[in-house]
Amino acid sequence: MDLARNLFRSTIGRKLIMAATGVVLIGFVAGHLVGNLQVFEDPDRINGYAHFLQSLGPALWLVRLFLLACVCLHVWSATVLSLESIKARGSEPYRVKRWIDASFASRYMRGTGYVVLAFILYHLAHFTVGAAQPATFKANIPHYVMKGDYHILGVTVVQAGTEVLDCRSMVIGGFRNPVVAVFYMVAVGLLSLHLLHGAESLFQTFGWRNRSWERALKAVVTLLCAAYFLGNLAIPGSVLLGMLR
Ligand code: HEM
Repeated sequence: MDLARNLFRSTIGRKLIMAATGVVLIGFVAGHLVGNLQVFEDPDRINGYAHFLQSLGPALWLVRLFLLACVCLHVWSATVLSLESIKARGSEPYRVKRWIDASFASRYMRGTGYVVLAFILYHLAHFTVGAAQPATFKANIPHYVMKGDYHILGVTVVQAGTEVLDCRSMVIGGFRNPVVAVFYMVAVGLLSLHLLHGAESLFQTFGWRNRSWERALKAVVTLLCAAYFLGNLAIPGSVLLGMLR
């Protein structure tokens, strides 16, 4: 009980909450990208995958609630830590902004974080609820009949002949609108910047960063964030260029 109270009330506790929820959210966005990249393969792949996720029913809702709790705790701890640091600095503004040591990504953590939050809300309205672009949403696209079985780790999770949502057409239809596609590309760019600094700082918070491998860590994180950005950029970008249809 004391441990939980200290976690929420102390600065280090809030940093740990921010880092631990950050790990979960990084795991989610990485897995989501791997799933989404199936859009470049046979339509059976992404449509089978989306159908499998939907068929999880109550288990899917448990995962959704867990992710929502992580997002809330992450935003809460970041906001409180930010307000504390503003308070500690006093109301007097800096005469000279001391940004010399801070990277671009670290300077704009708060800004990129809130834009990503706004993007997630738009994204849910777009592909989960269908309020953003009703014409290309689930109810308005014909169903897709699976040509073959869809397997995960060798286990058949969707059988050939099953009628499923045509998730591929929904995604491609959504990104045919250039405004929507460009908005996604900008948002994933900001998300990648957010991850760039966030991933490094969580190693610091957990005490896993030291001088001997600081540079290697930075290089690996930068490489992974660049790959993450390019992977996400590829989907709306290919639709815009007419390479994915
Ligand atoms: C080009 C990039 C992306 C594509 C094509 C994409 C595609 C999709 C699709 C099709 C769904 C709806 C699945 C369904 O209800 O059947 C979805 C849900 C979702 N996406 Fe994305 N997504 C992208 C990027 C992102 C990013 C960057 C984030 C996080 C920052 C994200 C977070 C989510 C969340 C939280 C859901 C809701 C999951 C659920 O309903 O259980 N997506 N995405």
